[in-house]
Amino acid sequence: MPEHVCPWWIGYLLASPLRRFFHKPEEIVKPYLKEGVTVLEVGPGMGFFTLPMARLVGSQGKVVCVDVQEKMIKSLVRRGARAELAERINARLTSGNSLQVEEFANRVDFALLFAVVHEVPDQEKLFREVHATLKDDSLVLLSEPKGHVTSDEFSQTLAAARRAGLEVIASPEIKRNHGAVLGKLRSK
Ligand SMILES: C[S@@+](CC[C@H](N)C(=O)[O-])C[C@H]1O[C@@H](n2cnc3c(N)ncnc32)[C@H](O)[C@@H]1O
Repeated sequence: MPEHVCPWWIGYLLASPLRRFFHKPEEIVKPYLKEGVTVLEVGPGMGFFTLPMARLVGSQGKVVCVDVQEKMIKSLVRRGARAELAERINARLTSGNSLQVEEFANRVDFALLFAVVHEVPDQEKLFREVHATLKDDSLVLLSEPKGHVTSDEFSQTLAAARRAGLEVIASPEIKRNHGAVLGKLRSK
């Protein structure tokens, strides 16, 4: 595992209910979701956002999760089963070189990239792969922790997203984090 990826045991802290004091997952993602939609979540960890999203998309919706760490995926799957949401969650392990989500080309309504992009060596490639999964009017919520990512670094991430065909549509306030809502560049 590359050393820039957060250790698997941090996954337990990130999925802890204590985190709700500053990140309320339902409030953060609800504006972008409705019943029946397909979500792509890159780097879900142990599912702090995945389970709430699986509830919000309803029985006809789906949350496709891609992570590079098997321990994260296994814990996420266990939590999903315990919450009786397993059928709505499609959890996948990837090598890190690619998301391997080609079968979702033009099928994703919303993508969540929360506290993951700074761990990815080739950000532009990641954004290109996310771009390919999106429908024309789909949105991406990108958020990065201020503790790990400076404002300059976040600007560079937004520039990589733009080169991949994603432009900033809004800048939501997310406690302790940078935030941007991205949509497909119309001219691309
Ligand atoms: C800091 S954790 C954030 C987890 C979750 N998004 C949250 O906010 O609770 C970053 C996660 O991204 C995953 N990750 C790192 N690089 C990745 C890549 N190239 N593709 C997919 N997932 C990746 C890590 O394994 C880890 O689960």
